[in-house]
This record gives sequence, C-alpha cells and structure tokens, in this order.
Amino acid sequence: MSKLQNHTHDGQAPGRQTRDRSEPRFPGGPVADPAGSHHERRIRSFQPRRSRVTTGQGDALQRLWPLWGFEIDGHGTLDPAEMFGGLPVVLEIGFGMGEATAQMAAADPGTGILAVDVHTPGQGNLLGLAERNGLSNVRVANGDAIILLREMLVPGSLDGMRVYFPDPWPKKRHHKRRLIQPEFLTLAAKCLKPGAVLHCATDWEPYAEQMLDVLSAHPDFENTQEDGGYAPRPAFRPLTRFEGQGLDKGHVVNDLLFRRVG
Ligand SMILES: C[S@@+](CC[C@H](N)C(=O)[O-])C[C@H]1O[C@@H](n2cnc3c(N)ncnc32)[C@H](O)[C@@H]1O
Repeated sequence: MSKLQNHTHDGQAPGRQTRDRSEPRFPGGPVADPAGSHHERRIRSFQPRRSRVTTGQGDALQRLWPLWGFEIDGHGTLDPAEMFGGLPVVLEIGFGMGEATAQMAAADPGTGILAVDVHTPGQGNLLGLAERNGLSNVRVANGDAIILLREMLVPGSLDGMRVYFPDPWPKKRHHKRRLIQPEFLTLAAKCLKPGAVLHCATDWEPYAEQMLDVLSAHPDFENTQEDGGYAPRPAFRPLTRFEGQGLDKGHVVNDLLFRRVG
C-alpha cells in the first residue's frame, strides 16, 4: 500500500482529527505563549513541552480556567490580595502537576496560593484537584514567572514565594537557564513584602550550592538560619513529585529559607 493510501484527501490520517493551529487547544482554556513572541528571545528557565493532556485535565481546563486561571500576558497589573479577597498570598513558581500545591492549599485555607507554570497537563491537574477538594484559595497562572514578577505584580504584594525543585539544568552550557540567579532574586525581592520568606528546595546539590551562594550574597535577602546554611525541611512542605523521583535516585534534598530584608 502506498503512503498516500493511508491518508484522506485533505492529508489527514483516517480517523485522526487535527486542529487548525489558530484554534485554541482548549476553548476558554489557557493560551499558548500568552506574553507573545516579543518575550521569546530571552533565555528561559523552562523548555516548552507538548505533553499529552488527559480527558480529565482537558475537561478541567475548559470548565475551570475561566474561573481560576490567569494569563501572564505582560499587560496590566495584578494585585494578588484583590485576587484572593484580601488573603495573604504566596506565589509558587513551577508547580509541575500541582499535587503538593493542592495539599498546601488544603492545609492552610487562610493563605492564597498563586501557582504559576507553563505546563498545560499540570494546570489541568491542579484545577481538577482544587475543584475535587473544594479549595477556594488556589489560582493558576499560565506563562513565564519572570514576566509576572517583572511586569505585572504590584511591588511589595507577596507574603511569600516558593520555588520547589526548579529545573536543575545540570549541563554547564545550560546553567544560564537556571531560575535562581541574582537578576531573578532582584525581581523576587521587588514583589515580596519586607519580612516575607523565599523558600527554595532542590535535590541537585550543585544547584543547592549555587542557590546558597547567590541568596547569601544578595543585599535584599538574609538567611533565616543562624549558621548561614540550609534549613531543615519545614513541616508544611509536602513531598513533591519531582522530589520523589530525586529521592529514588539517591539524591540529597536541601531547603533554603531566606527573608526579604528592608
Ligand atoms: C522540575 S519541575 C518541578 C515541579 C514541581 N515543583 C515538583 O517538585 O514536582 C519544574 C517546573 O517549573 C516550571 N518552570 C520552570 N521555569 C518556569 C518559569 N520561568 N515560569 C513558570 N514555570 C516555570 C516547569 O514548567 C516545570 O513544570
């Protein structure tokens, strides 16, 4: 049979429905690249992935995104306290599949969690978890956290920030993609209230050392640990999916808790 016989007259494999690229993947759901291509030239800390979205995740995206989703499009300002009806708000950057986020939201209903990621299946997963667990204190933001911090968040509006198991980018030529760098810390400090804590965790020891170095050297942060080292894992941080994979490989996990000074 020739290759052509496997396809219909419009070039599609029989039985396979394709989507016009101009159509949204999930009508009413998050858009691809919300900030537009003018932001694309910058080195980014994530790699665009086209992972499969399950039926349940897709359903959650279509139904719940209009209620609890937020596009990081680089336009306008965002006051997180307004978004959560006056609750203190913690920003979580890179929530992955969102299980740990949902657990923290359930354990602390008096704190709003603004959870940011670019990962569409994870966004659907977290929205579904929030609905099933009756969580009213989670909002899901789609896009690059750097743009949110740099261009959208009201300065001094966050009560905390969590960066759990950011992509380790282990190869030397990729180190510039690591999120925790002096420039990121300056943006984070701008958005945190004085005294608010930035909590990082990683299972990649060279990255933990880099985090400790740049956080200790940054004038806007001070270590909550008197010995200037890593912090004991706080009881409120659940085991994350990525952390579990690291522990299975024998990795050592380090937590860092630094306070915004000023
Ligand atoms: C290694 S995963 C860890 C996920 C989760 N925290 C865990 O521990 O299982 C890192 C996540 O951060 C997201 N990420 C990386 N850089 C980001 C950025 N600048 N803005 C938003 N999300 C980002 C990636 O898409 C990915 O889902």
